[in-house]
Amino acid sequence: MPITPQELIANLGDLPPLPQVASQVLRVSADPDATAEDLRKVISTDQALTSQILKISNSAMFGMVREVTTLTQAIMTLGFSTIKSVVIASSAKNLYHRGSVGLQERLIWEHALIAAIASRAFAKSLRFPRVEEAFIGGLLHDIGKSVLGVKFPERYGALLRTVYNEGGVCLNLELDTFGFDHAMVGEALVGKWNLASSLQSAVRWHHDPIHAAQDHQELAAIVALANQMALEEKVGIGDPQHLEGASTQAMEILRVGPEALAGIKEGIRAAIEQDKTMIAEF
Ligand SMILES: [Fe+2]
Ligand SMILES: [Fe+2]
Repeated sequence: MPITPQELIANLGDLPPLPQVASQVLRVSADPDATAEDLRKVISTDQALTSQILKISNSAMFGMVREVTTLTQAIMTLGFSTIKSVVIASSAKNLYHRGSVGLQERLIWEHALIAAIASRAFAKSLRFPRVEEAFIGGLLHDIGKSVLGVKFPERYGALLRTVYNEGGVCLNLELDTFGFDHAMVGEALVGKWNLASSLQSAVRWHHDPIHAAQDHQELAAIVALANQMALEEKVGIGDPQHLEGASTQAMEILRVGPEALAGIKEGIRAAIEQDKTMIAEF
């Protein structure tokens, strides 16, 4: 009897945990009674995270107008839900950058950041209300690639080189090699991290948003468009042409036509351009 992707993923062994401080931040920011002081206390136990939050608070990415110098100020100005994005971004970065950071890891991480920015911008333009969730969805959509890179450095490295040099289709090569793909692995990780089911679904279906459960299709569709856009901007490993099917599904789900989409993309390109310095530093 063939084994299921879930069983194969179970055989991946332990998935990397979400750092403790990050899960505490998620818990506090989800608590309606929590105060900025509660959040500050949790974050300030982690020096690296604190300085990263200050740095990011001052980047164009979060549209700050005056300089943020303290954690309390950052929390008050950015708000709980944006702080949550920053903390997840910081944890994701550590995972994307596990082990040695070669060209491939760098490209995958930059692709994730561009997709996150584009995702948030698509959400805003399309009046999808949960813009920070869109940001996190974009950021984590390919996190399964990092897990595969950590678990199978040789085999996955070779696979990515084939995609990069010969224009192979990543998903097909993954399925041939492992019996599952990075979207399945990413879903398992996001599930293990106890993030929202909408995020699990967006990660799982970013190549086929039409297969997401009805309630989660819009988020999956936004991430699908952002993923293609990041590749169109030449950030990442893969050919944006291979994502035409995903985009067509996404446009149907979001009820947006080609002309409107082109207009939205024009605006997003400007946002990406503005954030490029931040991306280099993050
Ligand atoms: Fe992907
Ligand atoms: Fe991607």
